[in-house]
Amino acid sequence: MTVDRSAELAGNVAVITGAASGIGQGLALGFLQAGASVVAADIKVDTATRGLAADGGLADRLHEITADVTQDEDVACSVATARDRFGRIDIMVNNAGGPSCSPSLYAAAKAAVVRMSAMAAVELAPWRIRVNTVSPEPIMVPGFADNGGSAERLIAVQPWPEAPR
Ligand SMILES: NC(=O)c1ccc[n+]([C@@H]2O[C@H](COP(=O)([O-])OP(=O)(O)OC[C@H]3O[C@@H](n4cnc5c(N)ncnc54)[C@H](O)[C@@H]3O)[C@@H](O)[C@H]2O)c1
Repeated sequence: MTVDRSAELAGNVAVITGAASGIGQGLALGFLQAGASVVAADIKVDTATRGLAADGGLADRLHEITADVTQDEDVACSVATARDRFGRIDIMVNNAGGPSCSPSLYAAAKAAVVRMSAMAAVELAPWRIRVNTVSPEPIMVPGFADNGGSAERLIAVQPWPEAPR
């Protein structure tokens, strides 16, 4: 059974990193549609996310900021922006960070995020702050298609493409 809990996002304030494209952009628009306010932080901010939000009449709850998540001060600035613009912060989505290295290094980095999130959940539990990790299967983001990718190619590079899912 699928339970739609998106209504619970209404009124919340979220910072989403890597929100200028792909999964992060989809999350930003989904949060806005659910009634949340969003600080969309990305190393390269263009007009795409704002345009899509404006089409849905949602742009007034979107604040875009140029931020590199590898820079502590940029992350702090993103959080401060949420507080200054929307008065609080409820949700942090640590989405930015794609594969720019070998698959092994990428996997190691993702494993580190999973363990870091587990420990952050323990550390932050006394303040009733939840920390969860989402590990999606391959998702066809525009950047992949722009680089000549396709669903067929995605399946072809699976090490065991005919495995039952
Ligand atoms: N697409 C998939 O199939 C898939 C599957 C599993 C996990 N993921 C993970 O989901 C996340 C998003 O992936 P995507 O496919 O949407 O990628 P994407 O390339 O479409 O989008 C990534 C966004 O992050 C931004 N970004 C990159 N480095 C940044 C930095 N240092 N600081 C701030 N922003 C930065 C980029 O400008 C871009 O807008 C990544 O962490 C990726 O590893 C993706």
